[in-house]
Amino acid sequence: MKLTVNGTPIEVDAAPDMPLLWALRDLAGLTGTKYGCGIGQCGACTVHLAGQPVRSCSVPVAAVGDNAVTTIEGLSKDGSHVVQRAWVDADVVQCGYCQSGQIMSAAALLARTPNPTDAEIDAAMQGNLCRCGCYPRIREAIHRAAALKGGR
Ligand code: FES
Ligand code: FES
Repeated sequence: MKLTVNGTPIEVDAAPDMPLLWALRDLAGLTGTKYGCGIGQCGACTVHLAGQPVRSCSVPVAAVGDNAVTTIEGLSKDGSHVVQRAWVDADVVQCGYCQSGQIMSAAALLARTPNPTDAEIDAAMQGNLCRCGCYPRIREAIHRAAALKGGR
């Protein structure tokens, strides 16, 4: 199966119905994307598919086709993406398990809505659960990222 992940063409020995999450973690060695629920309910496995946030546990690898896949490893080489910088500034993270998915959802939100309101943030992020309850800092960090990006 051929995929384009983080700008690089790769080939994985995957059955067509293998979840993209498995292919990324177990076959491509990209373990930044996390497995939480496995049923599309927690958001820990969020990656971008053609720029849109998707739950990679619920996308069969055969459905990816030519669409570009971006994981947390591909967001920036050195943690310098504006969302990652804002996350550090706002000291968002507790255990960290949900955070790759949170950051990927936030990055996709800001790509389509440069200066989101609280309501737009809550709507975009509602599928990303955080058992540590980092939600207020996640919202703050998204506002910080918008400001860093020049959204306001
Ligand atoms: S692991 Fe994919 S949504 Fe929970
Ligand atoms: S930081 Fe622990 S689950 Fe979100």
